[in-house]
Amino acid sequence: MKILVMHGPNLDRLGKREPEVYGHETLGSINQRLQEAAAAAGVALDCFQSNDEGALVSRLGQAAGTFDGVIFNPAAYTHTSVALHDAIKGCGLPCVEVHLSNTHKREAFRHVSLTAGACVGQIMGFGPAGYLLALKGLVDYLKGGAV
Ligand code: DQA
Repeated sequence: MKILVMHGPNLDRLGKREPEVYGHETLGSINQRLQEAAAAAGVALDCFQSNDEGALVSRLGQAAGTFDGVIFNPAAYTHTSVALHDAIKGCGLPCVEVHLSNTHKREAFRHVSLTAGACVGQIMGFGPAGYLLALKGLVDYLKGGAV
């Protein structure tokens, strides 16, 4: 089983960026913890971050046929990107959307996700632990254990 983890814009600055909202853990540390959890589950994992919407669209297109599923925090593009909604659907892979913060507790413009409707599920509000929950949920889903 092979899973692609994708992180959208500004998530490369985790640890420095608005720590009162996103915490102190860096993206490198989150990816490391994901790699360890995946290895323990016998799953191969690739991590990709980009601040560029087109690069994220292209990466999803390339993932078809190579990966079994995707864990994706589209960050600000969550609220704006029809292109990423279409790319998630178009790649044909089950995708779990992750947000560190609970976007429903924040500004109104963060209350809508254009990408969640293309995903099998969404996890938010648990900080970096949300990525590990997403990994567990996606692996179970791919093994046929989840609806
Ligand atoms: C975020 C929430 C988005 O609204 C925001 O633009 C981000 C991070 C989160 O993980 O909580 O960059 O996706």
